[in-house]
Amino acid sequence: MQQDLAGRVALVTGAGAGIGRATARQLAARGAIVGVNDLKQELVDDAVAAIEAAGGKAFPVVRNVATREGIAQAVRQAAEHGSRFDILVNNAAWVRYQHVPDIMPETLDRMLDIGFKAVVWGMQAAAEAMDGERGGAIVNVASTAALKSAPGSVVYSGIKAGVLGITRAAAAELGARGIRVNAVCPSAVPTEGTQRNRNAERDARRIASTPMGRLGTVDDVAGAIAFLASDEARFITAQALVVDGGITFTTL
Ligand SMILES: NC(=O)c1ccc[n+]([C@@H]2O[C@H](COP(=O)([O-])OP(=O)(O)OC[C@H]3O[C@@H](n4cnc5c(N)ncnc54)[C@H](O)[C@@H]3O)[C@@H](O)[C@H]2O)c1
Repeated sequence: MQQDLAGRVALVTGAGAGIGRATARQLAARGAIVGVNDLKQELVDDAVAAIEAAGGKAFPVVRNVATREGIAQAVRQAAEHGSRFDILVNNAAWVRYQHVPDIMPETLDRMLDIGFKAVVWGMQAAAEAMDGERGGAIVNVASTAALKSAPGSVVYSGIKAGVLGITRAAAAELGARGIRVNAVCPSAVPTEGTQRNRNAERDARRIASTPMGRLGTVDDVAGAIAFLASDEARFITAQALVVDGGITFTTL
């Protein structure tokens, strides 16, 4: 694997599982020193150990990043650990699908706190921590739900569409400082977090509607995130890269 991110310091939120964990692994495989954030010590330690066992560099950042202070401290911890700060991946999420009559204030608030507000606060903290000359890269994990909706996804679709909006607006503002801001929009990917909403029949329908003929994997998404975080994407900002095997924009 190329070491094009050697020496760069990254933070991936929600990296104890799923897409975040794969992203931390891929950034580290490309040479980055990766802050692995999640809520639980054992999850984080396990992800860090796996990266180190593969020869990569990682460190634990056990914190709830759903508040402004939480994500700011996580970014600060990463910047202090590595004596610089280059890459932020806003990935952590807490998701519940609810139909309109069932949406509850607690669910809406919790999803907004981690899915939307934490992205704003994360970008604010990252912009402060990134070097004024070198710049950096922020990748926000949105979803194809930002582009195409289904029943039960009012809150989720709204939050992810909002993430695309703030990604573009932040890109407009931060480009002059060399900071690129992009998003990825994955389709359904089997992870710990999506387990509760999956079943064989729904997966079969998705696969039949996907030009590439399969579901995505965490590494499919992590590869796109790592690309956007790297210098290969040096002139790419304000984009939403759809990682979906073609399902969103085709009809089979
Ligand atoms: N898996 C999919 O099908 C899919 C599709 C589209 C978009 N996404 C998006 O990708 C991202 C990752 O999804 P996933 O399926 O890998 O999720 P996941 O639930 O498997 O993992 C998310 C991780 O984030 C952590 N987390 C949650 N709240 C946190 C907090 N406040 N502070 C720190 N860590 C916290 C969780 O503990 C968990 O380990 C999310 O933004 C999700 O919306 C996922």
